Amino acid sequence: MIPKETIQDIFEASRIEEVVGDFVQLKKRGSNLLGLCPFHNEKTPSFTVSPAKGIYKCFGCGKAGNSVNFIMEHEKYSYPEALRYLANKYNIEVEEQEPSPEEKFAETERENLFGIHSFAQKFFTDTMLNTEEGKAIGHSYFIERGFRDDIIMKFQLGFSPTAWDSFTKSALNQGYKEELLIASGLSISKEDRLYDRFRERVIFPIHNLTGKVIGFGGRILTSDKTKPKYVNSPESEIYSKSKSLYGIFFARNAIVAKDNCLLVEGYTDVISLHQAGIENVVASSGTSLTNDQIKLISKFTRNITILYDGDPAGIKASFRGIDMILEQGMNVRIVLFPDGEDPDSYARKNRSADVEAFIATSADDFITFKTRLLLSETNNDPIKKAGLIHEIIQSISIIADPIIRSLYIKECAGIMNMSEQTLLNELNRLLRKKVLKGHSNEVNAETQLAAIDTEAIPVEQEPLLKTDDCSSQELDVIRLLLLYGDKTIEYFEETTSDEEAGSEITIAQLICNDIRANQIVFDNKVYQEIFDAYAKGVDENDIPNDVRFFHHSNQAIANCAIDIITPRYELSPGWEEINIAIPREEERLQEASLRAVLSLMHRRLSILITNTQKELKELSTDLEEYNEMYADLMSRNIFLLKARNSISNRLGRVLNN
Ligand code: UTP
Ligand code: MN
Repeated sequence: MIPKETIQDIFEASRIEEVVGDFVQLKKRGSNLLGLCPFHNEKTPSFTVSPAKGIYKCFGCGKAGNSVNFIMEHEKYSYPEALRYLANKYNIEVEEQEPSPEEKFAETERENLFGIHSFAQKFFTDTMLNTEEGKAIGHSYFIERGFRDDIIMKFQLGFSPTAWDSFTKSALNQGYKEELLIASGLSISKEDRLYDRFRERVIFPIHNLTGKVIGFGGRILTSDKTKPKYVNSPESEIYSKSKSLYGIFFARNAIVAKDNCLLVEGYTDVISLHQAGIENVVASSGTSLTNDQIKLISKFTRNITILYDGDPAGIKASFRGIDMILEQGMNVRIVLFPDGEDPDSYARKNRSADVEAFIATSADDFITFKTRLLLSETNNDPIKKAGLIHEIIQSISIIADPIIRSLYIKECAGIMNMSEQTLLNELNRLLRKKVLKGHSNEVNAETQLAAIDTEAIPVEQEPLLKTDDCSSQELDVIRLLLLYGDKTIEYFEETTSDEEAGSEITIAQLICNDIRANQIVFDNKVYQEIFDAYAKGVDENDIPNDVRFFHHSNQAIANCAIDIITPRYELSPGWEEINIAIPREEERLQEASLRAVLSLMHRRLSILITNTQKELKELSTDLEEYNEMYADLMSRNIFLLKARNSISNRLGRVLNN
């Protein structure tokens, strides 16, 4: 735990241009600095650093943030890790707050586990290289498989001896405790005796993102069918099967460089491809792909290419994985290897350049892959074919980007020899169903509605639902606060005649007072926090500026502020130009602020009115208190309508919805 004050010190000491400058070559451009974006491939620099605001922003890929964000993003550090990195850079002493006994226990437990895994890896490698048995069966197995020695060393492969408890004895001798050996899964306790889990197996260590060993896989060397071919470490404090990917540590740089991640089945596929010079490869090791694993990949790229051997059962099982990748907004391509080959065997039989060429040329997008595969099974049976269409459109409907969706529809129509319109109708039916069910992950209903390919919706469909969502109105209020909250304007009462002088007031005062007078609470918790900070600033006469939020110790707030201030896909080389783009708003701040606050109130009232009218409609005449309730609702309805009317008038325009 890093104390709050220290976090503040770290934020204050960090100079964005120095933090970024350690990784990116920056050139001066006006008051900003410019360089090549480290987060996407580009030839002309669009990565801008503003020392004044303490933030960076790429106008190519939209990434933006403060010093801490940069380190988290660039180094894939967690928040506390990034803070410690910066503290170290600026010689700030981090006096960790005394952790609770539980935290202490968990921390030592993790450290001890890392320790025993590191010890075990060295033991297994040493056994492979320096014992008679290890050389004769362990090392020679890898060599026979075609692994080169540099690759064997790079992946820290090893061998666990034949004796029942060689490793366990050696670890106990080194002072490692029995409980730790059991917790790590390296030793198994049976009838009061400890023996080695991996005995008489060749060893594949599993590394985490930073290269620490967190588990092992052990392959059998005999053809004894009564024993499992592979034995893996059990779950522990440091190893979670569903969150790890084999090879990620060795692949991370290549994944970024190639902007693509190859996904294979197991240890040997990863290693053989590395040996063939293809390093952007990881394996989900025995399990089917999980969302956590996809998230791990998405730290480095949006593109995944799955490499399959040609086993039909395995391919079918992979459909779910494809949908999961699409659901996370990532792109997926599939390479199918010829019958009887897997990436490992293929890489061993062919020259490196040929392997790379094969992967590049035979990668299908998921739609071609899935359609071709399923189509071959339908045998022109119309009912089966209809089921297939449904299946494929279902996958397309998961994609968030409407342009990509329509491209896939086109492609699918071509392969299936069907009209695009038919497929679009089916797609829209599915999309609409999702909206109505409120079935959406992270995307709100409004975005989903916007996502529906409206021009293709048949006319007889019911009108699209209105959503009770104020997010864009709330956003506008917060945006004005962040941009202009500390600006002072000369305020004129709406009814005052022109000759009278206005009074001096800040935008924050203007907005906060109006919002509070009308007791408006923001739906969005982060917006509410930003608003509260401004309201407090108004009361204490210390109105914050946007920069203070960029360096807020709450990451959600910092990210939100940065996102709002730096429009995401602005294709502009610098902030100066953005500022030029909105001078009119800046000149008419009073009007802009009032309009934002009033629009939010208008929206809120509209939602209340809709709800009241719905209640009125659904009020059952059977109720005893029907008359009373009806009168209540009616007067509430009239009150709300009047209130909204007066706001419409204030807004100076009649909104008729
Ligand atoms: P294979 O069966 O091809 O393993 O599975 P292999 O070691 O390459 O064996 P041979 O030499 O072809 O017969 C491929 C990958 O699937 C995982 C392993 O990661 C392996 O590298 N696997 C396989 C398991 O995790 N458990 C198993 O029981 C089998
Ligand atoms: Mn194999």
